[in-house]
Amino acid sequence: MKIALFDAKDYDIPFFQKMGEKYKIEYKFFETKLNADTADLARGFDGVCVFVNDDVRAEVIDRLYENGVRVVALRCAGYNNVDLEKCFGKIHVVRVPAYSPYAVAEHAMALLLTSVRRIHKAYNRTKDFNFSLSGLTGFDLHGKTVGVIGTGKIGTIFMDICRGFGMQIVAYDKFPRKDPSVRYVSLDELFRQSDVISLHCPLSEETYHIINERAIPKLKKGVIILNTSRGALIDAEALIDGIKRRIVGAACLDVYEEESDLFFRDFSGHIVEDDILARLISMPNVIVTSHQAFLTEEALANIAETTSQNLVAFFRDGLCENELCYRCGNVESCMKERKQRCF
Ligand code: NAI
Repeated sequence: MKIALFDAKDYDIPFFQKMGEKYKIEYKFFETKLNADTADLARGFDGVCVFVNDDVRAEVIDRLYENGVRVVALRCAGYNNVDLEKCFGKIHVVRVPAYSPYAVAEHAMALLLTSVRRIHKAYNRTKDFNFSLSGLTGFDLHGKTVGVIGTGKIGTIFMDICRGFGMQIVAYDKFPRKDPSVRYVSLDELFRQSDVISLHCPLSEETYHIINERAIPKLKKGVIILNTSRGALIDAEALIDGIKRRIVGAACLDVYEEESDLFFRDFSGHIVEDDILARLISMPNVIVTSHQAFLTEEALANIAETTSQNLVAFFRDGLCENELCYRCGNVESCMKERKQRCF
C-alpha cells in the first residue's frame, strides 16, 4: 500500500510514520497541497491522503484516476473540499468521522474565555510588566445564553461544557436530536436570544454564509460569535460591518473562508494580501487562530490510526465503514446499514 500524503506538516508526520510501521503502509510525505498542478505527484500511488485545504474537485479527480489512484483518504471529518459526486464510480473516499470532538469543543471554549476575560491582552501586558487593569473588564458567562448551531458530536460536547459554566442553551439543527435537555429554536430565534453563538454545523450549500448581512441585524447587540467549524459559514465582510456597527461584540475565528493559502504557514515578515483578514486581525475584539482547534496529541494519534485502519479495511478487506458516498441522503445512517463498498 503506497499512499501519497499531501500538505504534510511536521506535527502529523511522526504520527503517520508510526502508524505506517504498525499497519504496513508506505506513506510518502509531500509538503505541497493537492491541486490540479500537483495531482501528478500521485502517479504510482494506490491512494492519496489529504487534509482540509487540499483540493479534490473535478479536474484533480480525473488526474488522480488517470494516475491509478483508487482511494482518497481524508485525515479529517469535513469533506466540503471533495466533489463526492465526481468521485463516484472512480475513486472511493474515506474519512475520519471523529478523532477528538473534545479538542474542538474545548478550543471553542478557550477562545470564548480568552475573549470575554481579555486574556490575550493581559498576556501581552504582563509580558511587558504592565500590570494595569484598564480596559480588561469582562463579563460572567454564568447565566448568559449560548446559541449552538449544529448539535452533532462537537456541538453536543460544547453544550455540556457551557452547562458546566451555568449558561442557558438554545440550539438550531437541521436534524434535531430527540434530547429533552436541548431547547431547539428557529435560527432567527437563536439569533435573537443568544449572547454567544457557536457554529458547529458542516459547510454545505444550506449553511454557506449562515452568518451574513441579513443575519447580522437579527443578532443580539454585543453577541460573541465563535467559529471553529468552517470559514465559509461566515461572510467575513458582513461580520466586519457588524463589528463596526457595534452589533457584534467580538468574534473568535479558528477558520476563515479564504484560509487555504494562508493558514498552517508562517507569514511573519511578509505583507499579507488579504485585506479582509488583515482588517479582522487588526480589530481588538477579534481573535484568530489558524485552524488549530483539532490540534491535540489525542486527536493527531486518532487521525493517523483511523486513516490507516480505513486504508487497511479498504485495500485488504474490500470495504470500509468510513466511506463517503454522494448518493447517501444521510451519510451517517447509510454507513450503519452498508455492508459493502459504495460502488
Ligand atoms: P457532526 O456531523 O457530528 O455534527 C454536525 C451537525 O450539524 C449535525 O447534528 C447535523 O445535523 C447538523 N447540520 C447539518 N446540516 C445543518 C444545517 N443546514 N443547519 C444546521 N445544522 C446542520 O459533525 P462534528 O464532528 O460535530 O463536526 C462539526 C464540524 O466541525 C465539521 O463539519 C467540521 O467542519 C468542523 N471541524 C472543525 C475542526 C477544526 O479543527 N476547526 C476539526 C473538526 C471538525
